[in-house]
Amino acid sequence: MLGQDQPVILHLIDIPQAQKALTGVAMELGDCAFPLLRDIVCTDNLSVGFKDVQAALLVGAKPRSKGMERGDLLLENAKIFVPQGKALNDHAHRDVKTLIVGNPANTNCLITATHAKDLPKENFAAMTRLDHDRAVWQVAEKTGSPVPSVEKVVVWGNHSPTMFPDLTWATVNGRPALDIVGQEWYTKTFIPRVQKRGAEIIEARGLSSAASAGNAALAHMRSWFLGHTHDWVSFGAWSNGNTYGVPEGLYYSFPVTIQNQKWSVVNGLNISPEQRQRMVHTANELLEERKAIESILKV
Ligand code: LMR
Repeated sequence: MLGQDQPVILHLIDIPQAQKALTGVAMELGDCAFPLLRDIVCTDNLSVGFKDVQAALLVGAKPRSKGMERGDLLLENAKIFVPQGKALNDHAHRDVKTLIVGNPANTNCLITATHAKDLPKENFAAMTRLDHDRAVWQVAEKTGSPVPSVEKVVVWGNHSPTMFPDLTWATVNGRPALDIVGQEWYTKTFIPRVQKRGAEIIEARGLSSAASAGNAALAHMRSWFLGHTHDWVSFGAWSNGNTYGVPEGLYYSFPVTIQNQKWSVVNGLNISPEQRQRMVHTANELLEERKAIESILKV
């Protein structure tokens, strides 16, 4: 994740009831004899867990249970992400890069970043790399092309079924992807498939995505730490209000490139009215989510 010669100390945080299982995880990690793993800290104490960390992956969140409304889920999860934001603020390295994986990832990211009030908002991200990679795979599979030949895919907005996986600028071996896959497949199959891929996996496995989500988290952090300039990549990033009409203060997935551990949104893309409509739709959902947890954003 951080490069082939970067040793790591892993801090593993879990709830008190899971501490025994956590020691088992630590034993297994040790038993892998990973050449770069120098130490493992297991804890249920956030100030110990976040002490001096430079990369944080927040993966734990409460899943939606029967009869629970989306707003209830947001509030339940806020209880997890508020203290994590505060602990990052008080104990982590000042340059810590934090990836929020636990759902609803974009709004959990907003809660965490808001409560890490002294840390830059740009150093928090919501994971949409999984959606990006899903989109790339759909195109590679459809066109019978190797994954690296698919470029300039974009996922806009929320990590939810309102996201907009966009092939407007995508290419396959340098040729416009839409010319190869056709408009009908794009709108009727591709877009809904990527939007609902999480549910499709749950339906097939009886469980949420695990390996692909883990892989996407590692890929996201690798791009952030080591750079990503050969292509665009989707990144749930802080919106400053000046980019593609996305309201300020949301964590919204944009196409970015990354250099020197700093992401920048790919600018100057012409947006059609149809694209705009889809981009606004997913932004509106994020605004609604933010409204549902407004009280929690008071620091
Ligand atoms: C996914 O996209 O696979 C997950 O976010 C789905 C979920 O709700 O756990």
